[in-house]
Amino acid sequence: MTPLRALITGGAGFLGSHLCDALLAEGWNVVAVDNLLTGRRANLAHLRNDTRFEFVEKDICQPFDVGKIDYVFHFASPASPEDYHAHGIETLRVGSFGTFHALENARKYGAKYLVSSTSECYGDPLEHPQKETYWGNVNPVGLRSVYDEAKRFTEAVTVAYRRYHDVDIRIARIFNTYGPRMQIRDGRVVPNFMGQALGGEDLTVYGDGSQTRSFCYVSDEIDGFMRLAHSDEHMPVNIGNPSEFTILECAQLVLKVTGSKSQIRHLPLPQDDPRQRRPDITKARQLLGWEPKIDLEAGLRLSLGFFQQALAEEKNSK
Ligand SMILES: NC(=O)c1ccc[n+]([C@@H]2O[C@H](COP(=O)([O-])OP(=O)(O)OC[C@H]3O[C@@H](n4cnc5c(N)ncnc54)[C@H](O)[C@@H]3O)[C@@H](O)[C@H]2O)c1
Repeated sequence: MTPLRALITGGAGFLGSHLCDALLAEGWNVVAVDNLLTGRRANLAHLRNDTRFEFVEKDICQPFDVGKIDYVFHFASPASPEDYHAHGIETLRVGSFGTFHALENARKYGAKYLVSSTSECYGDPLEHPQKETYWGNVNPVGLRSVYDEAKRFTEAVTVAYRRYHDVDIRIARIFNTYGPRMQIRDGRVVPNFMGQALGGEDLTVYGDGSQTRSFCYVSDEIDGFMRLAHSDEHMPVNIGNPSEFTILECAQLVLKVTGSKSQIRHLPLPQDDPRQRRPDITKARQLLGWEPKIDLEAGLRLSLGFFQQALAEEKNSK
């Protein structure tokens, strides 16, 4: 039997590259499409000699066609605050035009479709923890709106393709995920703290650090995507770790895991920074039998080697 073929947009990114590995491990052929805006070829270097894997460098804001496919995983989009602030228009474009083009591929080939949405759809939530039924509290003209509204639009286009074109969709609402292959300087909490702790710099905490986040280790997150991909659920499902930490607690854990003597320095809180974020994962538990297995300290230890190497490479390149 010919193996099934999956298209992954954003396949050279952090999550997309781990998803390539998971699909190949499950026996799929994989084509990754990426314009390398925020992703890196290095994330896919280990697949160079795998004949079941193809990489296509392309901007999905233009129509594209990679031939017959059985599943579309739409992961292309700048994701870190640093990246989507630097590439605000590109973020809106990939969330809109890019999403249409990814969905058109699924429609054309009758392929299934899973899109990476985000907890940012909930904005600065007035409901806590956030269930999928919560509609969110988003400032449409705030600094983060280039990302939040792009992702809300992505969800709207996706459900419309099911309602109007009968495309077989799935929507993963991803909460903060961390692990190897993140960019060390991308402004997200874990790589930021790891880079600072390992580099002997102060750990920068915005505000008093009492704002909370939940952090999911990448292998748990990918397991959630794979289970969702194989399910028949068409409405959004939260995939994230429900254990809540203050930013200050996270900084202290990073200091413990790295053995760093760095200090904590407080900076002003940016505009629209959510106070609290924690997924209610009842739906994923019941529907997919999924829940995260790796706690924050264990995940930081699993990521340590990668961040040490990334920092060494950064130093050598200067
Ligand atoms: N990592 C997280 O914690 C998190 C949380 C919520 C949602 N997400 C979502 O998951 C997806 C992947 O995030 P990530 O953390 O891997 O980010 P990433 O920046 O590492 O990966 C995104 C990839 O998309 C590619 N890309 C961007 N615009 C493109 C375009 N026009 N054409 C082709 N490729 C393009 C980038 O080059 C990059 O390789 C994103 O859609 C993001 O919104 C991630």
